[in-house]
Amino acid sequence: MINVFSRYILYIIVLYIFIVPFSAYGQDQTETLISDKMCYACHQLDSASIGPSWQAIAARHAERREQVTQVLAGKIIRGGGGNWGVVPMVPNQRVSEEQALLMMQWILDQAP
Ligand code: HEC
Repeated sequence: MINVFSRYILYIIVLYIFIVPFSAYGQDQTETLISDKMCYACHQLDSASIGPSWQAIAARHAERREQVTQVLAGKIIRGGGGNWGVVPMVPNQRVSEEQALLMMQWILDQAP
């Protein structure tokens, strides 16, 4: 019994050591990209400023995540309005399609 239990613990520890840092790595890179592109000038993680918070965006689109990811990635680049209030988002033209998609996936992961 003890043997099985300690194997289980060992398994968890090994998983933690190898998997967590790697998954956190990709996440951190995307977050760095988001701050490099100045998105935090108008967005915060958990409170609305000029734009809605990442958490609010994630919560609103959670149910239709698969359908909206691509569309919203396009909106990051081209800008647009009408979903959250009267203030539109300016276009962010120095963002590539690939970067926009990465950022959109990261944002949708921030659901509270
Ligand atoms: C000048 C301010 C500003 C900047 C800079 C900005 N945003 Fe926005 N963003 C907004 C506003 C305002 C809205 C709400 C638009 C609306 O009502 O549809 C918004 C909406 C969004 C949405 C939600 C769209 C929806 O329809 O639900 C996402 C995702 C988003 N922004 C991502 C980004 C990313 C990523 C960046 C950085 C590349 C960025 N924003 C930079 C102001 C900004």
